[in-house]
Amino acid sequence: MPSLPNSDELIFFVNGRKVTEKKADPEANLLFYLRKVLRLTGTKYACGGGGCGACTVMVSRYNPKTKTIHHFPATACLVPICSLYGAAVTTVEGVGSIKTRIHPVQERLAKCHGTQCGFCSPGMVMSIYTLLRNHPEPTPEQITEALGGNLCRCTGYRPIVESGKTFCAESTVCQVKGSGKCCLDSEERSFANRQEKICTKLYNEDEFQPFDPSQEPIFPPELIRMAEDPNKRRLTFQGERTTWIAPVTLNDLLELRASFPKAPLVMGNTAVGPSIKFRNEFHPVFISPLGLSELHFVKTTDAGVTIGAGYSLAQLNDALRFIVSEQPKEKTKTCRALLKHLRTLAGAQIRNMATLGGHVVSRPNYSDLNPILAAGNATINLISKDGQRQIPLNGPFLERSPEANLKSEEIVLSVSIPYSAQWHFVSGLRLAQRQENAFAIVSAGMSVKFEDGTNVIKELQMFYGSIGPTVVSASQSCKQLTGRQWDDRMLSDACRWVLDELYIPPAAKGGMVEYKRTLIISLLFKFYLKVRQGLNKMDPQKFPDIPEKFMSALEDFPIGTPQGLQMFQCVDPYQPPQDPVGHPVMHQSAIKHATGEAVFIDDMPPIDQELFLAVVTSTRAHAKIISIDISEALALPGVVDVITAEDVPGDNSHQGEILYAQNEVICVGQIVCTVAADTYAHAKAAAKKVKITYEDIEPKIITIEQAIEHNSFLSVEKKIEQGNVEQAFKYVDQIIEGEVHVEGQEHFYMETQTILAIPKREDKEMVLHLGTQFPTHVQEYVAAALNVPRSRIACHMKRTGGAFGGKVTKPALLGAVSAVAASKTGRPIRFILERGDDMLITAGRHPLLGKYKIGFMNNGVIKAADVEHYINGGCTPDESELVLEFLVLKSENAYYIPNFRCRGRACKTNLPSNTAFRGFGFPQATVVVEAYITAVASQCNLLPEKVKEINMYKRISRTAHKQTFNPEPLRRCWKECLEKSSFYARKLAAEEFNKKNYWKKRGLAVVPMKFTVGIPMAYYNQAAALVHIYLDGSVLVTHGGCELGQGLHTKIIQVASRELNIPQSYIHLSETSTTTVPNAIFTAGSMGTDINGKAVQNACQILMARLHPIIRKNPKGKWEEWIAKAFEDSISLSATGYFKGYQTNMDWEREEGNAYPYFVYGACCSEVEVDCLTGAHKLLRTDIFMDAAFSINPAVDIGQIEGAFIQGMGLYTTEELKYSPEGVLYSRGPDDYKIPTVTEIPEEFYVTLVHSRNPIAIYSSKGLGEAGMFMGSSVLFAIYDAVAAARRERGLTKTFTLSSPATPEVIRMTCVDQFTDMIPRDDPSTFTPWSIRVS
Ligand SMILES: Cc1cc2nc3c(=O)[nH]c(=O)nc-3n(C[C@H](O)[C@H](O)[C@H](O)COP(=O)(O)OP(=O)(O)OC[C@H]3O[C@@H](n4cnc5c(N)ncnc54)[C@H](O)[C@@H]3O)c2cc1C
Ligand code: FES
Ligand code: FES
Repeated sequence: MPSLPNSDELIFFVNGRKVTEKKADPEANLLFYLRKVLRLTGTKYACGGGGCGACTVMVSRYNPKTKTIHHFPATACLVPICSLYGAAVTTVEGVGSIKTRIHPVQERLAKCHGTQCGFCSPGMVMSIYTLLRNHPEPTPEQITEALGGNLCRCTGYRPIVESGKTFCAESTVCQVKGSGKCCLDSEERSFANRQEKICTKLYNEDEFQPFDPSQEPIFPPELIRMAEDPNKRRLTFQGERTTWIAPVTLNDLLELRASFPKAPLVMGNTAVGPSIKFRNEFHPVFISPLGLSELHFVKTTDAGVTIGAGYSLAQLNDALRFIVSEQPKEKTKTCRALLKHLRTLAGAQIRNMATLGGHVVSRPNYSDLNPILAAGNATINLISKDGQRQIPLNGPFLERSPEANLKSEEIVLSVSIPYSAQWHFVSGLRLAQRQENAFAIVSAGMSVKFEDGTNVIKELQMFYGSIGPTVVSASQSCKQLTGRQWDDRMLSDACRWVLDELYIPPAAKGGMVEYKRTLIISLLFKFYLKVRQGLNKMDPQKFPDIPEKFMSALEDFPIGTPQGLQMFQCVDPYQPPQDPVGHPVMHQSAIKHATGEAVFIDDMPPIDQELFLAVVTSTRAHAKIISIDISEALALPGVVDVITAEDVPGDNSHQGEILYAQNEVICVGQIVCTVAADTYAHAKAAAKKVKITYEDIEPKIITIEQAIEHNSFLSVEKKIEQGNVEQAFKYVDQIIEGEVHVEGQEHFYMETQTILAIPKREDKEMVLHLGTQFPTHVQEYVAAALNVPRSRIACHMKRTGGAFGGKVTKPALLGAVSAVAASKTGRPIRFILERGDDMLITAGRHPLLGKYKIGFMNNGVIKAADVEHYINGGCTPDESELVLEFLVLKSENAYYIPNFRCRGRACKTNLPSNTAFRGFGFPQATVVVEAYITAVASQCNLLPEKVKEINMYKRISRTAHKQTFNPEPLRRCWKECLEKSSFYARKLAAEEFNKKNYWKKRGLAVVPMKFTVGIPMAYYNQAAALVHIYLDGSVLVTHGGCELGQGLHTKIIQVASRELNIPQSYIHLSETSTTTVPNAIFTAGSMGTDINGKAVQNACQILMARLHPIIRKNPKGKWEEWIAKAFEDSISLSATGYFKGYQTNMDWEREEGNAYPYFVYGACCSEVEVDCLTGAHKLLRTDIFMDAAFSINPAVDIGQIEGAFIQGMGLYTTEELKYSPEGVLYSRGPDDYKIPTVTEIPEEFYVTLVHSRNPIAIYSSKGLGEAGMFMGSSVLFAIYDAVAAARRERGLTKTFTLSSPATPEVIRMTCVDQFTDMIPRDDPSTFTPWSIRVS
């Protein structure tokens, strides 16, 4: 290797300040550099692979040729700092700050309630901000497009989009179905006759500061001078292990290419970066030609267009758009096919970073563009020192044949895309788990040329992505079909031949084999129809059009801009103006979220001597540990220690939860040891060097079925029974039996589990800062692990980036693991789980298998139900028993079944231990209920909604566990939902649609809900608070609840403000800590405000009682005066408040109890459209009616409902955890686990808070944190309805079950048709599948 010069200085700007880095490390990415070097912590880490958008920044570059500045969004985690020479980076701190001025984007995101936990908010701000820099008056579509690469797990996106829409020039009033009318005006939503006034404004636009685009910071003139410098020279940055070289001209690049033939050319780094990070690739030299003007051009000729390899996919998009607008339609078929896929490929950030050259050369097997480029006869133009040549993309290059590869000294200069011709058709087709920002499950590019004026095939090409290790061509089949007419016979042969030629083996990596086989021919069929339609347009006399009923098969679902309305009870006009209760108050940290100034754990500055922890986890599901060799790890630079079970001074297995594996491992992902080092990179490198040898132990239990077989359970059976089930079965008209599988769910909180453990010098004290829902539990585990009294352990929790149940128990385990490391090394420990480790180690929602036997009359009345539930608890107890109890108790949902038995068992398996998750078993169990109701309806030939109504609780009743309740609000929600959603009219309209469309079907479903909050153990409903009034009148409130993004602290401030009768601005809430409120129970079960609100109310009332005599004497005095006087009179200005808790109980022996304090009711209607050929679906509209009683804060409550609904929708549709038969979790990041994005939310979304009374709770409110989750199942059952319509039309009338999640795979394979009949099926006994179902 030739020798390299010394390092250059790296110069770029961040937020207008010059950064000169003398020791630029090519391995450092911008996210690391911002957070750890520049200490700009507003930009967040949530995945590290470009898939979540939390780290979005704006990059700006000056183009000396065009003298323009180009701003684009980028994911900082994939930007090598060395690539930034001459660039200006803007982070959320540079956009605005509380200390100076907040930017309108930040202000509006906060005021529109677009932040909850706030972890995604800086990324959201940066995506909208960058869009505005380029388009100061964007269209609503541009807003949605700009946000497509940003994940949010809390809000459900609606308020975020809405905040963006306030910048649009067009009216932001909702335009129902394009009618131009606001839905508020429509009759069906008229509330004129109502007694209570209904409000619809959650924020006041008049409060927004105006947006003036001319006020944005200028591009640094120094960078313009640098860019225009005629004497630019090659740059070299020399790191610890690697070298980065940026050539200055094309010739220079070719020299370098020849000198370093193995060095990757780093362009967008969206392929190179992830392979270094996730696949351990190492490159000693990088060549970075990104800025070379020779790679940035568009050239059009009569034959087509040539685009420089350096063009980003976003620039490619713009260039193609221009060409399409200029050229006749027939010439631009390839361009238009590319444009369609460019809209959904990744998110806006990746499309702005990734380059055309990088895409073509990296040849991802899932490529969206290469199959189209190949089908469109595109060529790549190569250049080297020896000259130029072209290679066709439709040759062996895409299939990675070694002889067709680029020569080591060659680079791609450009890609030429020929124009299409008159009798020539080109299409791109794809299907992914979700519409945008998801790799294709199958992608395809197809083209056909006909003999002029005929339908005789002259040339046919088909390329498929994602069905093998490379993009593949069905070249043999295409050859055989040449000369054939484009007709049904040709199609039938084509399908058979292509399936033969592109055989996918049954155990293929990635799984979904039968689905992929079906997609291969379904997409081919779509192409066939499209071409037939095209031929008809060209010569309608000669070529008949496709049947009208098939028309809708041609189009993908459009990506629209969601719109909707939120309705809630207005505040009583006589309420004092200062009293904030009932108002839609903004989240108390919202502005800080939006400016990035809200401090999360890893945003805390480094502590002297701190060490980073990396984990080594088990790779076996059940095995004996034979040896652990740490010698190589210890020898690596920066490594301080390796910590194992031997190092735990106290309890290594507390309450059955194991900190460090000892002697044996019981799941893949169990922590075996941790490595403490001076940097995370060193800790991680060393963790990879720890060698563990195992000896497998039998049995290895992964699935529920295997657990039942081995009688492997975590708890005894739990049962609730009423009536006489056996007897009732004898007198019913019909009996049905069935099984429903509901798979698990990953919490996917945006902030992964993060802990800072600081050992104190004295008395074995330890301080922990962490994101948790249960600081007391952390304290307990750490004390047990260190063998010290709990009084020595202080846990501090300020906020966390989402939790959803995933931070109830797991932080205790991880906190103890960190504390042991801190105690052993005597140094502070920073432990941040990477996304992949977090998903692997901390597990999630319990997968469930529900078995039912239902006896009913022909009129739909259900007389008897015998239901059995099994949940996959994983390898340790965690909260599985409690989850099971909840789901058994709640499993009747809203229905009265006189003879009802429900039993449940938690299975012990060799999977990571599943844990609490929003809804706590209810969202799984109720799917089983809705499934059997739907099955009964199908048997009785009735609408499911009729059967639901017939069997729904109607009057004051007792639940199956004998708790009395009044279902009046349930009936009201149900009735309003049916009426206001115009359910029956839309159902008829959907049926009409279905009659006219064979391949697209619409479905509607309404689900009712009877949910309960709280815990069936009274002492678990207690809470305490501590309120201090200081002498300046300011108030510090502390309570036992944790702020997880749900707005708990915001509501508590509202409570304190009302009780103390002072403005909210006087009240401060800093953090939750075991040192201020001891023994607090977890913040979960929708009880946060209920119980902590009561405790705070109590404390405030105590204080007010003390102040009362002073106020009485001086009623016109000011708060500050009263406080001063109280101090003078020696009145204590500090009080603890306490709430004993709701007096709930449950006697499992007698199977009865007042298990829950009260019920929350609701109903939800969703309508979907399903593409029967691909299994994709589109959520057209959702109407939620939720019984909120009296809402303390409608904005927070609606935020919880919408967020939970979208999370529920994810559970039931797109979120799918994949496990190997050996118990290895494959889904470890946003690439292979798909939570909903902005594209998935309902096109129309209406939420209404229904008023009722709930005197038991504070201010007659209700806890709504979880209830919306189950509402998401309306989407599942709407899909069921649509699929049932498809099946009926195909002659399949038998009742069928749709398990959860209803992924595109499940939907497609349930829509049985000639294509599913055609694919080869494999005998399951002959192979081991790639993945298995664990429910
Ligand atoms: C989060 C995420 C989501 C994605 N989603 C999708 C998706 O939905 N659909 C899809 O199709 N793709 C998707 N991709 C893949 C993406 O399209 C490719 O990674 C990208 O196009 C590669 O371009 P790049 O400029 O970043 O390449 P780089 O990573 O910079 O380089 C990739 C390779 O190409 C070589 N190379 C680059 N330019 C040249 C050149 N001019 N001459 C010779 N060799 C060259 C390099 O040596 C290197 O080996 C996604 C990627 C990410 C990170
Ligand atoms: S952290 Fe960069 S995209 Fe997720
Ligand atoms: S607010 Fe978006 S992830 Fe929490």
